[in-house]
Amino acid sequence: MHWLIALSMLFLLLTVFLRLGWMNKVHIADIIKQYLATTNQTLSDEQLIVLAKQIRKPMWDWHIYIGYVLVGLYVIRLLLPFFGEMKFRNPFNKELPQKVKFQYIVYLLFYLCVALSLITGLVIELGPKEFKEPMEKIHILSIYYLLAFIAIHFAGVLMAEFTNQKGIISKIISGNK
Ligand code: HEM
Repeated sequence: MHWLIALSMLFLLLTVFLRLGWMNKVHIADIIKQYLATTNQTLSDEQLIVLAKQIRKPMWDWHIYIGYVLVGLYVIRLLLPFFGEMKFRNPFNKELPQKVKFQYIVYLLFYLCVALSLITGLVIELGPKEFKEPMEKIHILSIYYLLAFIAIHFAGVLMAEFTNQKGIISKIISGNK
């Protein structure tokens, strides 16, 4: 479950980076424009962007497909505690040490932010047209918590591995409890 969710999130991140970088519509439009200039042809800026979006589409479709996969994984993740697996831990338990409390709060916030990304993503795709723009404004903010979580999560896992939880990395890879 951990690796399916992690891989899906990294895949989504990859599509976002491609969209922002190598496959950015403005860059692609510029390449087409420069090529057309060498053959004495022109297209309007709008036409160039339409073409660029069409070129980007097969890549971006994977954001949507993996988004749906993640919705399924997320629902399964929420149901697992009812079957006695992967229980959510309460960060507000007073007996917990500060470090563990922080760890559980980060997980809780992360799950809430992922829920927001999934819901806004679904509304953009399947919801009424008038909601599309406000949902997009919220949805694109996903990149910030995602990068922040990845950084905190990696740092936390490495800290645990090299201090009081030796073997934590091989455990999550092998699945051994
Ligand atoms: C945790 C899950 C998700 C994350 C972290 C995420 C992240 C992002 C980010 C950062 C962008 C902005 C890309 C950019 O313009 O720079 C984006 C755009 C988009 N996402 Fe997601 N996404 C998630 C799930 C979904 C789901 C479930 C769907 C739909 C099934 C979806 C559909 C879209 C669409 C249609 C856009 C384009 C919006 C636009 O044109 O401005 N996403 N996503």
